[in-house]
Amino acid sequence: MNDHPKPQPATSRKSGPLFGKARLPGDKSISHRAFMFGGLASGETRITGLLEGEDVLRTGEAMKAMGARIERNGAEWVIQGTGNGCLLEPAEPLDFGNAGTGVRLTMGLVGTYDMKTHFLGDPSLSKRPMGRVLDPLREMGTQVLKAEPGDRLPITLQGPQRAAPISYRVPMPSAQVKSAVLLAALNTPGVTTVIEPVMTRDHTEKMLAGFGAALEVETDTEGMRHIRIEGQGRLQGQVIAVPGDPSSAGFPLVAALIVPGSDITIENVLMNPTRTGLILTLQEMGADIELMNRRSAGGEDVADLRVRSSELKGVRVPPERAPSMIDEYPVLAVAASFAEGETLMEGLEELRVKESDRLSAVANGLKANGVDCTEGETTLSVRGAPEGRGLGGGTVETHLDHRIAMSFLILGLATAKPVTVDDRAMIATSFPEFMRLMTDLGAEIE
Ligand code: S3P
Repeated sequence: MNDHPKPQPATSRKSGPLFGKARLPGDKSISHRAFMFGGLASGETRITGLLEGEDVLRTGEAMKAMGARIERNGAEWVIQGTGNGCLLEPAEPLDFGNAGTGVRLTMGLVGTYDMKTHFLGDPSLSKRPMGRVLDPLREMGTQVLKAEPGDRLPITLQGPQRAAPISYRVPMPSAQVKSAVLLAALNTPGVTTVIEPVMTRDHTEKMLAGFGAALEVETDTEGMRHIRIEGQGRLQGQVIAVPGDPSSAGFPLVAALIVPGSDITIENVLMNPTRTGLILTLQEMGADIELMNRRSAGGEDVADLRVRSSELKGVRVPPERAPSMIDEYPVLAVAASFAEGETLMEGLEELRVKESDRLSAVANGLKANGVDCTEGETTLSVRGAPEGRGLGGGTVETHLDHRIAMSFLILGLATAKPVTVDDRAMIATSFPEFMRLMTDLGAEIE
């Protein structure tokens, strides 16, 4: 895990039909939480299907630094947790690399401990706003001893002797902020309430309940979710099978749609409705995606997706759908580049504060490859060129963003000319198998 390696460019080119079965790595959101909650709970947690990407491994290292024992035993990760309320002060700064989820959730987790914790990140993470997590923590009694201007990393937190439970309305649609408050509540006496006006991914609620937390969720008449959690209870280690990551599924999925003659099956994809906005949108665009073998695994719906290349048409993607596909806009923009007509994506303000300013990074990457698009303050409109006529030939700046790198390598599989990305290194943060999985399907990427 080196923070400033020499950039490693990669190039993709027009490929023949993609065929075969793809088995995805585990879901990133669930993998982070599995390490965290397992590291915190009493007794043993065993995890299969964990995403062994750099981001998740950083979270594992952080939990180890605070007293959890974590070992890989064949295909299984085995954790002996500290017990709720029993994390230890880490001796060294916790370095989260590129991982927003890891750092924000861990700040919540330790923010109510009477100890000092230092947080670090790579240049991309150090540009991202942390105030959204620090604000509710301050209300609970956490002191921010050190932060860069605008509440940015490196940050040092000191928790109170006794944290105060709060009622907190999450001001932006963010599962990370919701989760940080819920995790801070675990070491806080009394009941903490998180009010969520717009539902975001609900893995924290579901998994904490599974670990035995006293947590209840109620949706009021206006559709707001009220999540109440009683702190200082016991959490018990669990057995967790992590389903395949629907965000990672987006890459082979869009590839198969845009490369003519393709027919692939992506196995074991998480179908939690807070995560399936991309599939819905692509289906509206005319994508041939068949959900097969729908089943329940570890408390989540999963399915295999059979995907055949399709003629796509542009659609309007409404802003209220954004939380269920927030990480998938870059690859949706790639699909839209091959669609007939305009695809208008609205409500994209959160894309500005991801691993990069994804709205600009996507628009610039598309323009560099001849795609007709317009970047608005919170919107992106793409006018496609069916069959990728005249597209490609550009080099894309990835800005240390794994999803920008993967999305544009998918673009190049169906454009007239090859597409180059300036650095593939960050792909390892979320999808270390990406290159091999894609080339096994027949993609020409090197
Ligand atoms: C995540 C929440 C989302 C998402 C990120 C993972 C999570 O971030 O973009 O990749 O696991 O909670 P926000 O909370 O900033 O929307």
